[in-house]
Amino acid sequence: MIQIIDFGSQFNQLIARRVRECQVYCRIDPPNIDIEDIKSLNPKGIILSGGPSSIYEENSPKVDKAIFDLGIPILGICYGMQFMVDALGGTVKKSEKREYGFAELEIKNQEGLFKGIDKKTQCWMSHGDSTEKLPQGFEITASTENTKIAATVNKNKKFYGLQFHPEVEHTPKGKKMLENFLFDVCGSKHTWTMKSFAKDAIAEIKETVKDKKVILGLSGGVDSSVTALLIHKAIGKNLTCIFVDNGLLRKDEGTTLKKILKQHLDINIRFIGAKGKFLKALSKVDDPEKKRKIIGKVFMDVFEAEAKKIKDADFLAQGTLYPDIIESQSTFGGPSAVIKSHHNVGGLPENMKLKLIEPLKYLFKDEVRLLGKALGLEEELIWRQPFPGPGLAIRIIGEVTDKRLSILKEADAIVLEEIKKSGYYRKLWQSFAVLLPIKSVGIMGDKRTYENILALRAVTSKDAMTADWAKLPHDLLGKISNRIINEVEGVNRVVYDISSKPPSTIEWE
Ligand code: XMP
Repeated sequence: MIQIIDFGSQFNQLIARRVRECQVYCRIDPPNIDIEDIKSLNPKGIILSGGPSSIYEENSPKVDKAIFDLGIPILGICYGMQFMVDALGGTVKKSEKREYGFAELEIKNQEGLFKGIDKKTQCWMSHGDSTEKLPQGFEITASTENTKIAATVNKNKKFYGLQFHPEVEHTPKGKKMLENFLFDVCGSKHTWTMKSFAKDAIAEIKETVKDKKVILGLSGGVDSSVTALLIHKAIGKNLTCIFVDNGLLRKDEGTTLKKILKQHLDINIRFIGAKGKFLKALSKVDDPEKKRKIIGKVFMDVFEAEAKKIKDADFLAQGTLYPDIIESQSTFGGPSAVIKSHHNVGGLPENMKLKLIEPLKYLFKDEVRLLGKALGLEEELIWRQPFPGPGLAIRIIGEVTDKRLSILKEADAIVLEEIKKSGYYRKLWQSFAVLLPIKSVGIMGDKRTYENILALRAVTSKDAMTADWAKLPHDLLGKISNRIINEVEGVNRVVYDISSKPPSTIEWE
C-alpha cells in the first residue's frame, strides 16, 4: 500500500489514479493523520501531494515530521517537496512570479525516478515558491531554465522531491517516474487488480454481515448495480434491493432496467412504481433546489416504507465512491461549497438504525466499471452514462408536468438513439436533452408555430468535477435537431449548449 498525504492539490485524485493504474493499492489521507495510524497502516511508500499553500503561511498544512524517521521511502511533489525540504532543514524561497505550464527538464543522472527516461524531457510546472537550499544529504537531480532545483534526492534515505507534477498528462514521462518510485524504490508489486479486490471485498462483506439481512437502493446505474452484485455474491438471498421508479426516468428506462436487472442479476429486487407521488409533490414547483429536496424527501418516504417491510434487516448498502469520501474528509482544498444538493439514491433513513456498508468506497468510477466487468456484469449496465437521482425533473426547467415530461422523454430518446448509433455514447460522459421554459416562433407547413425550445447537452469528462462541451460533428447535431423537430410534437427549435464546467455545470439545474 502506498499512502498519499493530501495537501489540497487539485491533482490529488490523479496521483491516486496513476498509482492504481500501476496495480498498486493506495489511499489518500489528510495531513492531520496520527503518526501511529500511519505506522499501523504500514505503507511501502508515502507520497506528499502538492497544494495551494505556501510553506511559510501560518496555517499551511503539515503532516507529523516523524514520517521522516519511519525508514519508508517518501516522494514529495511540488508543495510536498517544499514541505520535506523545510522540515529537514533546507530553505524554500518565496517567489514573486508563479511558474505555470510546460518546462524542459534537464536530468542529471538517469537513475532513481529518472531511470529509463531521456536526459531532456518535458514537465508541467505549477508553483509559486521553490527550493533555495537543500537539506543535508540531498542532491539536485534535475533542473529547468527557471527552477534550478526541479528534482532532488537523498539516496540514503530514499527521499525524493519533484517540483513539477508527474501525475498530469502534460508530463509525458511522469507515469514512468511514478512507476520507478513504486517498483524500484518502494518495492511495490502489481497486486491490485479488480479480481483480487472482489475476492477480498466479498470475504469482508461475509465477515461483517454474517447471516443478517442487507437492503440496497438500486438505481440502475453502474455503482449500485456493482454494489448489488458484490453483496449478492457474498450473502445471496439475504440481500434485498429496492428500485423506486419515480417516473422521472428516461423513456422506457424503467421497463428496460427492470428487464436487464432481472435477467442478469438473479437478485431479490422489489420494483416500486411511484410516479404519481413524485409528480404530485412537484406540482407548481419551479425552483431547482426545491425540486431536488422534494424528490429526495419523497424518495426517502417511499424507500423507507418499503424497507420497513423487510424484517430483520441490519444493514443498508450504498454505492458510495472514493471521490465522495475524499471530498468529505479533505482538510485542505475541500469540501467545496454546496452548489447543488445531491441526493444519492438509497440514503440512510435515520430512524431505521441500519448499519452502513459501502463496498466501493475506495474505488474510482473507472475501477467500478472494471470491477463490474470482472464480476461478469452486462456491458450495457457497465457503460451506462451517469444519470442524476432527481432524473428528468432537473432537465425540465420550470414546472414538471406530465405533458412536459413526455415532450422531454421523446426528445431525449432521439438524442440517445442517435448518439448511440453514431458511436459517441461511450466517448461522452453524458449526452441528453433539456426542456426550456420559453417558447419561440417557427414555421411548419406554411403555418406559424409558437412552441418549446430544447437544448442539447453533451460533455466529455473524467470525473464530472470538470467537463468540456463535446465537439460533436455538425451532421450528427443536424440529424438530431431535424428528428426532434419533425417527430416531437411541441418542439420547434433545438439549440446546442457550448458551455464548459466550470463555470457552467453539467446539468442545467
Ligand atoms: P453538475 O450538474 O453538478 O453534475 O455538473 C455533475 C454530475 O453529477 C450528476 N448529478 C447528480 N447525480 N444526484 C445524482 O446522483 C443528483 O442530485 C445529481 N445532480 C447532478 C450529473 O448528472 C453529473 O454527472
